[in-house]
Amino acid sequence: MELETERLILRSFLEDDVDSMAELFANSDFMRFSLGVFTERKQTIAFVEKVIGWDRAGIPSQFTVVPRGEDAIIGYCGFFYHPEHGIEDIEIGYRLHPDYWNRGLITEAARAVRDYGFRDRKLSRVISLIHPENVPSRRVAAKNGMTVEKKITFRGFPTLVYAITREEWLANHAAR
Ligand SMILES: CC(C)(COP(=O)(O)OP(=O)(O)OC[C@H]1O[C@@H](n2cnc3c(N)ncnc32)[C@H](O)[C@@H]1OP(=O)(O)O)[C@@H](O)C(=O)NCCC(=O)NCCS
Repeated sequence: MELETERLILRSFLEDDVDSMAELFANSDFMRFSLGVFTERKQTIAFVEKVIGWDRAGIPSQFTVVPRGEDAIIGYCGFFYHPEHGIEDIEIGYRLHPDYWNRGLITEAARAVRDYGFRDRKLSRVISLIHPENVPSRRVAAKNGMTVEKKITFRGFPTLVYAITREEWLANHAAR
């Protein structure tokens, strides 16, 4: 499945995306504010299989971020699940190759993902989990209409829970 924005195609993951993704996951800027770069191919395979599994199960999943007119994956943006951490909300999560930072691309992608989640998948609420020092990601969440709800510890790190409810989306973003 695909979502289109002004500058981007967001398309569901394919098994063939492992090579492109392994290159991204090995990049320390792409992996800022994570548990670290992936050093083994099986880590990328596990990621790709996980998100394809969500697609096959019919639940909202991740998308590759591809600039229109190009044949290159420059990042990902979409939905994550963290029930093993006691978090029941669905997260919008994203990463982008550093060559493309600060052009508003992930804001564009995250808005399309948010709108798809509320409009097409009828989600009641979505969150983003962000380290307090991750200023660019906090800006993306704010521009996505989210506000800080609380601070938690997630995977051992201080983490802000940004959230937007369906009601807030309907009131402020649905028609745009
Ligand atoms: C977070 C990330 C996806 C943002 O992607 P992006 O396409 O560059 O985001 P945008 O261009 O849409 O927005 C970035 C915002 O951060 C701001 N920003 C960037 N660096 C900043 C800095 N050092 N200080 C203050 N603001 C900064 C930009 O000015 C912009 O805000 P603005 O529109 O108000 O000017 C990208 O930085 C990334 O991949 N980081 C590494 C992975 C990561 O942290 N993922 C999120 C985990 S929660």
